[in-house]
Formats: sequence, structure tokens, C-alpha cells
Amino acid sequence: MADLDQDGKIFVGKSGKPEYLTLHYGNRHGLVTGATGTGKTVTLQVMAEGFARAGVPVFAADIKGDLSGIAAVGDARDAFVKRAKELGFAYEADEFSVVFWDVFGEQGHPVRATISEMGPLLLSRLMDLNDVQEGVLNIAFRVADEQGLLLLDLKDLRAMLGFIAEHAAELTTQYGNVSKATIGTMQRQLLVLENQGAAKFFAEPALDLKDFMKVDRDGRGIISILAADKLMENPRLYATFLLWLLSELFEVLPEVGDPDKPKLVFFFDEAHLLFNDAPKALLEKVEQVVRLIRSKGVGVYFVTQNPLDVPDKVLAQLGNRVQHALRAFTPRDQKAVRAAAETFRANPKLDTATVISELGKGEALVSFLEGNGTPSMVERCMVRPPSARVGPVTSEERAAIVRKSPLKGKYDQTVDSESAYEVLMQRTHQTAAPAGTGGAQGEAAPQEGGLLGSIGGMLGSIFGTSRPRGQRLSTGQLITREITRSVTNKLAGQVASSIGKSIGGSMGGSVGRAIVRGTLGGILRR
Ligand SMILES: Nc1ncnc2c1ncn2[C@@H]1O[C@H](COP(=O)(O)OP(=O)(O)OP(=O)(O)O)[C@@H](O)[C@H]1O
Ligand SMILES: [Mg+2]
Repeated sequence: MADLDQDGKIFVGKSGKPEYLTLHYGNRHGLVTGATGTGKTVTLQVMAEGFARAGVPVFAADIKGDLSGIAAVGDARDAFVKRAKELGFAYEADEFSVVFWDVFGEQGHPVRATISEMGPLLLSRLMDLNDVQEGVLNIAFRVADEQGLLLLDLKDLRAMLGFIAEHAAELTTQYGNVSKATIGTMQRQLLVLENQGAAKFFAEPALDLKDFMKVDRDGRGIISILAADKLMENPRLYATFLLWLLSELFEVLPEVGDPDKPKLVFFFDEAHLLFNDAPKALLEKVEQVVRLIRSKGVGVYFVTQNPLDVPDKVLAQLGNRVQHALRAFTPRDQKAVRAAAETFRANPKLDTATVISELGKGEALVSFLEGNGTPSMVERCMVRPPSARVGPVTSEERAAIVRKSPLKGKYDQTVDSESAYEVLMQRTHQTAAPAGTGGAQGEAAPQEGGLLGSIGGMLGSIFGTSRPRGQRLSTGQLITREITRSVTNKLAGQVASSIGKSIGGSMGGSVGRAIVRGTLGGILRR
């Protein structure tokens, strides 16, 4: 038989007994750890194949290209056939439906986002801005909003910063210090981002998250693989991008509680990059997103070398654990091994810390959530061989898969809509009124989305991002989002809404909305 999955469970391998990952607890997140070459990527592949077979769409970042083989039929290597036999089944090759993505548009469909979707908090992280610069970025977003200027791509942001510099004096009286020197530095940071290839990323058509949530003709989950080798050259871009994806999922998906199986499973490889020298405020947001996204039916699986790479509060939320071998040469290694061992529910028959350093390739300590959602006792498990190819696809194979993709044509061409850059260019030919005087409102680009659009803008989000035209949420989703946001950030919500009420009330709808969003961004940063 092709697989040994049981109803509602994915077969991962065998200890004294078969080890299963229960789909119902698939949204309770997970962690795959181990030193280099111990079997993390293969375990990720085993889990991804299992989820896909169960009809759960999967998203995974592919750092070394070696996960791409999941799109190709596996080969019956002796080692795999032998291992399958030891585990009590006959190896059978298989392949999975894969859609390739690439921020740079070279190895898959381009993934794009707009500047306003990214929002000031994540953009500040991307541009490595200090607090003062971040303040100015918030002002840029606010003024753009007031003036009805859409921030879609990098040239919009550049034009907007230029506009702010021109009107620095008026804006300083209105919002606080806006210095030309600060803006000059920000323009240079923007150039750095541009040189790293971000211009390709900040564009339209932006990613439609529904494209990550699909099943194929056989009812199997489609596996979306993001080529991340080049993206990884800039670890901050990589980490911010994946975090943005998570926060987008969080915002867009409806509340589902604890479904029978996840709506989507998200594998976050090299997860330590997310946490390395991230500011405290950002860490808190990560912790929040991970905690809350569970009820949207999304399971997040972090892959990294050591469990200690993950902050305690996040670690505590990762229910399904696979620990591959760790080396224990130095006292520091040994300490890390002991700490890793302590994250498991003890098994009296196993000396967890000793076993961690004895594990062979593709062997692991595992503990999955079971019964009423408690972690199973840790077991020493031989992980099953995957059914699809282990290792990369060739570039020809990849190209063929991209050519046959169900999304062919949807993202191929960049669209350059009229946005801040174009409007501001036009205005320099006319006499433009400066920000805040209200004089420019009449010629501002119309806000699409009507009432829903403005509600969407007003609600803001966990990262202070906003959803521009073309991606409207249903009223139900908006309400859910608002409830979740206010619960998670009660304080910020209260402050923001009271400011929004007093200022918005006296100054009218669009200004009120702008200030609410800007304020949220600012408060969430701290
Ligand atoms: N479950 C398994 N069944 C059969 N072979 C396996 C299994 N797990 C690992 N292997 C073998 O071990 C090799 C290394 O595994 P893998 O690439 O997953 O390591 P890794 O921990 O991801 O390493 P790195 O940190 O370098 O990315 C695989 O190429 C494969 O040959
Ligand atoms: Mg790997």
C-alpha cells in the first residue's frame, strides 16, 4: 500500500509502535530540530506529503532547493526500500502537486505585495530603520492616506518621502519632527532595499492568498514551495517576508476554531532567523500571530537546529515535536542538549538527553499531541522514507512544472497602476496644496472599496498594515479580525479608538481613519 496513514492521522515513522501526527492537532503547530544533515528536511517532506495526502494545502520555504523534489516521483533507492521494509511496509513511489513561487520571479511565480500591505512596522524592520525614522515612515503612511495616495511600489514610497521632505515644515508642526536629514537617510535605505531586488517584490498583482489554499484534482493539498535560496542571501528580507505572509494569513482567514484537519500548514525553515536580534516588540507580535493563527486553522511548523533558537513563549505553543540528533562535544553543546531534552514529556524508558546525541540519520525523538491534546511521551522513532524524490528537481523539471501550473498567467506580468508616484508627478505640474490643508482632497485618487474599504483601513491589523483595493474582506471577516485584534491588543485598540474618536470625530472620516491606522502602527511598535 502506498501509505500507512490512518483515518485522521499521518504516519511519520515507528518507535516500538507506529508514530502518528494527528490531523485534528495539526494546527497546534510543531517544531523540527536537529544538527546539519540529521534529517530535518526529509522529515519536513514526510510531514508535507502526509498533509497533502490528507487534503491539507502546504506552504514551505525551500532554502537549499532540496525540498523541490517533492514534485517528482521518488526513486526506490536501496536505503529507502530497506527502511520501508524495516518499518513494515513496501516502498512505493509517488509525486505531489506543487506550485513553485519565487520573490524574484525566476524559479516560480512571482510573489508580490504592496507597500501598504507590508505596513510601517515590517517595512521599518526591512529597511532597518531606527525609532525616529520609523516615526517618519508612519507619518508618510498617514499623509498618503489623508491625501488618498496609494502606496503600492517602491517608487510610490520614494515619491511619498520626497513629498514629506518638501512639506517638512508644515508636517513638523502637525505631527512632530520631520527632518530632511532623516528622510535623506531613509531614501538611502530604500536604495539598499532596491539593490537587493525588493523592487520586484513590491508590485502588483499582489499575492492572492487563496492560491495557497488549493487542492488538486485528486483532492490532495497543493504544496506551495517558495524558492528561498536567493532570498536567504538577505536573512532579514527572508524572515520579514515569511512573517508578513503569516500575518496576512492571520488577517484574511476566517476564524474556524479547531477543525478536523488544518486549512493550511506553513513550514518555516531556518526559523532562528525570525528571532535573531529581532526587537522585543516584533517578538511579541510573532508570539501573538503564532498563538492566534491556530484558530484560523493554520499550523506553523518551525524548522531549526536547536529548540533553544525559539523563544520560550513560542516554543510553548509548538505541540508536535521532532528532535533529530544534536552533537554534544562541548559543555555548551551538552547544555543545549539537556535543555532540548527537557522540552519533552519524559519517558521513563528513555534517557532523552543521551539518546539525542546517539540518533542516526532520519531517526528522531518524537512527541505528538494525542488524546485530549496532551503531548505523547517522547519516543525514539525511525522516520519513514518519503514517497516523492528526496533532493532537488532539475531546472528543466522545474520549468516544466511552472509551465503547466494552474496559476499560469495570473502573476506573470507586473501591472503599474496609478498610485502615489504618478499622482505626485502630475501634481508637480499643477499647484499642489500641502498635506493637511485639505486642499488636495478634491484631486486625490478615489478610494476604491467604498464603505468596506474604509472599514478595512480603520481596523488596521496586528502589524498596522492595511489592505488596498482589490482585496476586500467580507463583513464577517472584518468583524472577526476586529474582534481578534481588539482582544489581542486591548490597550492599543482602546487608545487608538479613543484617539480615532476624538480626532476623527472632529476632523471627518478620512482623516480619522488615517490617524487611527498611524497610531496603531506606532503603538504596536512599542
Ligand atoms: N526519513 C528518512 N528516510 C531515509 N533517508 C533519510 C531520512 N531522513 C534523512 N535521510 C537521509 O539523510 C540525508 C540528510 O537529511 P536532510 O537533508 O533531511 O538533513 P537536514 O537535517 O535537513 O540537513 P541540513 O541542516 O544540512 O539541511 C538525506 O539526504 C537522506 O539520504
Ligand atoms: Mg535541510
